[in-house]
Amino acid sequence: MAQPQDLGQEWHYNLHDRVAVGSRLHKELFCGMLLDSFDPYKPAAIDWPPLAPDALTRLRQLPFWDIALETEESAGSRMQALADATADPLIRKALALNAFEERRHKDVLGAMIRHYGIPTKGEKAPQALRNPVWAFLRTGYGECFDSFFAYGLFALARQSGFFPPDLVGVFEPVVQEEARHNLFFVNWVAYMRAQRTPAFRVAFAARCLAALAVQIWKRMGTARTVDGDNFTRTGGKALGLGLKPARFLGLCLAENERRLSPYDSRLLRPRIMPLVARAAMRILPG
Ligand SMILES: [Fe+2]
Ligand SMILES: [Fe+2]
Repeated sequence: MAQPQDLGQEWHYNLHDRVAVGSRLHKELFCGMLLDSFDPYKPAAIDWPPLAPDALTRLRQLPFWDIALETEESAGSRMQALADATADPLIRKALALNAFEERRHKDVLGAMIRHYGIPTKGEKAPQALRNPVWAFLRTGYGECFDSFFAYGLFALARQSGFFPPDLVGVFEPVVQEEARHNLFFVNWVAYMRAQRTPAFRVAFAARCLAALAVQIWKRMGTARTVDGDNFTRTGGKALGLGLKPARFLGLCLAENERRLSPYDSRLLRPRIMPLVARAAMRILPG
């Protein structure tokens, strides 16, 4: 099991008991996980490393900075909207922290874009939110999907020396925060479902499935577009990583496990992407 220092954290749980999903203890554990593992870094204090001309060109040519900025902006506003609409003080506090961290991700990206003169298309106006729960479900499933591939891409970027280690290191807390967000999200979904009466539980499960289906459909649509802006797909191509698909999925699985390993073993883990990846690895060349 990875030690906390491997992930730049001094915090972890080492508990092996089970906890009833939907219980007060469950709520305290998944909210506590997010709140207690907060990393107080400040984007304005980041010391951006100097880049050699070829590394600078590679960074400027990566195709995903606009979509990354937009994704973080959207995630921040959706999580804040749900925090504002949540009555439970502990869950509200954790959601507000999640929103803060998404806005901070955007600030890190913005600081990097300004520092290295990366061209972007400019910000789009934020979309109005009508239903915070629906918006949060869509964002949460989207993050589970994107983070799974981002873990593998990030590990490849680190191993390949595509960028200097100092620059990769700046983004380490950002990537780890997404692992915490995914863990918080799947436990929030399970908690909320368990809190409902059986009839509403079915309705909530259907809503979750619909949110998941929308996110899958969105990504399939992007994948069909040759020049699509899908973060992981075009990201992998641009990073020049000619890894066989099954080996890449194996790396994503290993990284997913490593990044989630420091946190309380009683909390539920994201299961969909590991299941899909394992199934795909059986049929893909590798
Ligand atoms: Fe984020
Ligand atoms: Fe996130």
